[in-house]
Amino acid sequence: MIQRPNRAGIIAALDTQSPEQAEAWAEALAPHVGCLKLGLEFFVANGPAAVARIAPHRPLFLDLKFHDIPNTVAGAVRSACALAPAMLTIHAGGGPAMVQAARRAAEEFGPDRPAILAVTVLTSTDAATLSATGVSGGPAQQVLRLARLALEAGADGLVCSPREVSLLRDAHGTGPLLVVPGIRPAGSAAGDQSRIATPEETADAGADWLVIGRPITAAPDPAAAAAAIAASLHP
Ligand code: C5P
Repeated sequence: MIQRPNRAGIIAALDTQSPEQAEAWAEALAPHVGCLKLGLEFFVANGPAAVARIAPHRPLFLDLKFHDIPNTVAGAVRSACALAPAMLTIHAGGGPAMVQAARRAAEEFGPDRPAILAVTVLTSTDAATLSATGVSGGPAQQVLRLARLALEAGADGLVCSPREVSLLRDAHGTGPLLVVPGIRPAGSAAGDQSRIATPEETADAGADWLVIGRPITAAPDPAAAAAAIAASLHP
C-alpha cells in the first residue's frame, strides 16, 4: 500500500475530459506532487486504457466513488485494481457489508493493493440536503457515524473536508489515512468550494494527503504552482 507522507503530500486532481490535457499535466506535475487523481469525468469519457496511460507518471488515485450492492462493488474494485491505483474511493453510505466487500476484493491483489478510502458526507451536502434524505443531526454527526462504520468495516482511510480533519483525528487517532479536498492556497479563488483551508493549515490539522485541483491546473504555470505549494509545506 502507498506510504504515508511525512508531512501532507499533494494529490493533483486532473479534472478534464481530454486525455492529451491529462497527460500534459501529469508530465509537468509529476516532479512536484506525490499522486495524480483521475475521477469520473475523465474515466467516463476515456475509459481504463486512457487511465493506464497516465498511471506510469505517478501513483494514481482513482476517485470513482463506488456505491452499489457488495458483490458489484467487489467486482468494480477488482476491475479497478487491474490499473494498479494507489488509492480508490467508495461511499461509506453503502454500509458495512459493501465496505468489507471492497476491502476483501482489494486484498486479493496482495501488499501492493490500493488503499480503500471511504467518502462520508460529500462536501456539497449541507444539513438541509441531509434532512431531505431523512438524516437528522447535521453533517458533523453524520461524518462521525459513517467514518466509524467505514473504518470498522475495513476502510484504510477517509476523504473529508479540512473542517473535519481534527474531529476525525480526535475520534480515530493517527491510524486512518485522511485525504482532504477543498484546499486553497492563500489568495487563490475558492470556486465552488465552500469549506476551504490553506495547505499549511490542513497539514497542521493532521491531513495525510491534500487533493488540489484548480489552484494548480488553472494556474498560468501549473508546475510552478504545484512547486510553490510543495515548498510551502516543506520549507
Ligand atoms: O479544483 P479543486 O481543488 O476544487 O478540486 C478538488 C477535487 O477534489 C475535485 O476533483 C473534486 O471532485 C474532489 N472532491 C471534492 N470534494 C469531495 C470529494 C472530492 O472537492 N468531497
